[in-house]
Amino acid sequence: MVIGNWVLVIIMRSITLSAPGKVMLLGEHAVVYGQPCLVTAVNQRLQLTIEQSDGEDKVETPEVGDTRFLDATIALFKEKFHLKTGLLKITTNCIFSGKYGFGSSSAVTSAMVAALSQLYNLNLSERQLFDLAYLVVLNVQGLGSGFDVAAGIFGGTLYYVKGGRVLEKLDNNILNDGAEIIVGYTGIKSHTVDLVRQVAEKKAREPEKFDRIMLAIGQLVNNAKIKLAEKDWERLGTLMDFNQEYLRNLGVSSEKLESLISAAKRGGALGAKLSGAGGGDCMIALARSDKREEVKQAISNAGGEALNMKLGAEGVKVEE
Ligand code: MEV
Repeated sequence: MVIGNWVLVIIMRSITLSAPGKVMLLGEHAVVYGQPCLVTAVNQRLQLTIEQSDGEDKVETPEVGDTRFLDATIALFKEKFHLKTGLLKITTNCIFSGKYGFGSSSAVTSAMVAALSQLYNLNLSERQLFDLAYLVVLNVQGLGSGFDVAAGIFGGTLYYVKGGRVLEKLDNNILNDGAEIIVGYTGIKSHTVDLVRQVAEKKAREPEKFDRIMLAIGQLVNNAKIKLAEKDWERLGTLMDFNQEYLRNLGVSSEKLESLISAAKRGGALGAKLSGAGGGDCMIALARSDKREEVKQAISNAGGEALNMKLGAEGVKVEE
């Protein structure tokens, strides 16, 4: 820009990162009550670009629909690191449709904390990024276990306890060795916050029964972690079925989820369950590799959308 005889150089820095979506394998809902879960990052990624230039602190998000997670991340960084951000122009591009429930909010939060750390040379570790991302989730939603931002930051397949009290990366290749997880979309939107509240009401109504279910799910997840490492697919499938029974008991399954789950089982799956908060979104089925196509077909025939995806994807990363 030329003003009179002066040339004004506006320094602009730009960075693009991507973060993966996630699929809950076992332990949803119980993880909110301190039990462990198994979650995996999926190769459906969200890309976030920030262009930063000097000047007054201002944020422009021309194409981002829901800016709550971005705004909360910036507010948290300003508070913690006393940042003067300058002008930030943020754009996001989600490769996966928000409809599947793979976690576009958690992916955007994971990408944003990592982007701000890079942009302002804060050199934060993965653990620090996770702690900040979890705070953002709590600030925006007021509830949640943080399993989704753990998958967004760390990637891979994780054994996880709320707030990152335990955060263990499992062998990434196991889920593609002889058997695999197939994801089926119901076509129905799930409302996580409502379902988490609904489950909390169940706890208030029947506290003892509720605690027994939570404990049983926790034990089943611990068992599943061992069976996964042993590649004992039969038993892992049975544990998925048990988990689904408990989720049904909690009242978070639905007719469509049940119909895709039974179809997958009839099609030869070793186990099947809903994945995530329930009510809709996705179900998952475990099938031996030679049964994959039959199980996918069974899910499609029952009115679901069998999705192709790779599990155990990389966590948040800078894109060239
Ligand atoms: C939602 O995908 C999974 C829940 O366990 C909530 C959470 O862990 O934050 C229901």
